[in-house]
Amino acid sequence: MNYLQIKGHQQLVGEVVISGAKNAALPLLASTILSQNEINIGNVPNVVDINTLLKLLGMLGASYDRYNNHVKISTVDINETKATYDIVKTMRASILVLGPLLSRFGHCEVSLPGGCAIGQRPVDLHLKALEQMGATIEIKNGYILATCPDGLKGSTIVFDKVTVTGTENIVMAAALAEGTTIIINAAKEPEVVQLCEVLRDAGLDIKGIGTDTLAIVGTNKKLLNFKEFDIIPDRIEAGTYLCAGAITNTKLTITNVIPMHLDAVLSKFQEMGFGIQKDDSTVTILPADEIKPSHIVTTEYPGFPTDMQAQFMALATQANGVTIIDEKLFENRYMHVSELLRMGADISLNGSTATVTGKRNNLNAADVMATDLRASSALVLAGLVAKGETKIHRIYHLDRGYEDLEGKLSNIGAQVKRFNE
Ligand code: UD1
Repeated sequence: MNYLQIKGHQQLVGEVVISGAKNAALPLLASTILSQNEINIGNVPNVVDINTLLKLLGMLGASYDRYNNHVKISTVDINETKATYDIVKTMRASILVLGPLLSRFGHCEVSLPGGCAIGQRPVDLHLKALEQMGATIEIKNGYILATCPDGLKGSTIVFDKVTVTGTENIVMAAALAEGTTIIINAAKEPEVVQLCEVLRDAGLDIKGIGTDTLAIVGTNKKLLNFKEFDIIPDRIEAGTYLCAGAITNTKLTITNVIPMHLDAVLSKFQEMGFGIQKDDSTVTILPADEIKPSHIVTTEYPGFPTDMQAQFMALATQANGVTIIDEKLFENRYMHVSELLRMGADISLNGSTATVTGKRNNLNAADVMATDLRASSALVLAGLVAKGETKIHRIYHLDRGYEDLEGKLSNIGAQVKRFNE
């Protein structure tokens, strides 16, 4: 297993080029199951989760070529409809093949994702919606067995909670259904929006894109005609590198981003005293005279993303005073707290609320353990300002979602090395 060693207190400077969004690429790759033609996709991030989904699509019978950040994929020859436990256990987002497989083939088996480090994460809302569309769902031997021999039927789906992959799954299921599906309380994340736009460009009649009500007229099993497209920039990777600038209180620029997708995060930086400059595709963070504490409440887009909560907690350890963080989306998304405590942070937890008492230069290097993707990036950020050499173990979590993390950090002056333990 690999670990990362980070020497703290290095001066950062320069620019980071942001990669394509993992969470946009995952549903978009799954959506290629709905295509009648080969598709070229650009700006695909080179991260483990994407390789995992490509492997799964390959096991189903798809063929693909990957060079650098380009993927050419054809799902025409898919002849298998089972997503096995071996794959799904390594990546929950494999559930994204459920909707498109069921709507194209009328049956599929997908291993039921278990709980994970950040909470229970059920998929009941995905399943309930598919049942409403006429599917029969059975859970057997740990698998979701879904069938609809006469095809899925358009229906009105009201999501009890806003669910990102749930919305994506039902949009893809509705694409080849018979009749119109209305999704009420749909997720509006930029990744959901791009999925809808790509499907619209492929010929799907879909209205309400970017709002919480989507109306999709299914093609009654006629496959779509996909065009070439590029994956949108990763707003969470972007926010993480801006946090690297913020926590070291240095000027840092990120390029290849859509600044609008970062609005909630950028206004939080400003509230904490940092300057922000932006143009069409770059954002620069400028040092603060004093890093001020803040109140952070995670919520659905366009609110503050839960996927940035851990990184802002690391930043809050360097603020001058008490920051309150309310995690509203996942019940157990504070696994990074105990590791930050080991580095000398002052954090107390009460249910879903964390109280962080910050003080500049209060962290010391330690051996710490990565527990999930974003928790791991919080430890990297803490390592940048800790006294001494921090060792972060189990960094396979980071490799799931951050492309070339060491390369990008080294380019801006961080001292980061990967070792095998
Ligand atoms: C996606 C993102 C993840 C992000 C999360 C919230 C991907 C691949 N992952 O995860 O990075 O942190 O959105 O922005 O895009 N819920 C249910 N039943 C369901 C589905 C969800 O109770 O059937 C609950 C979840 O437990 C959670 C909340 O709804 O409390 C939101 O989860 P959801 O939006 O579905 O997260 P994911 O799509 O899994």
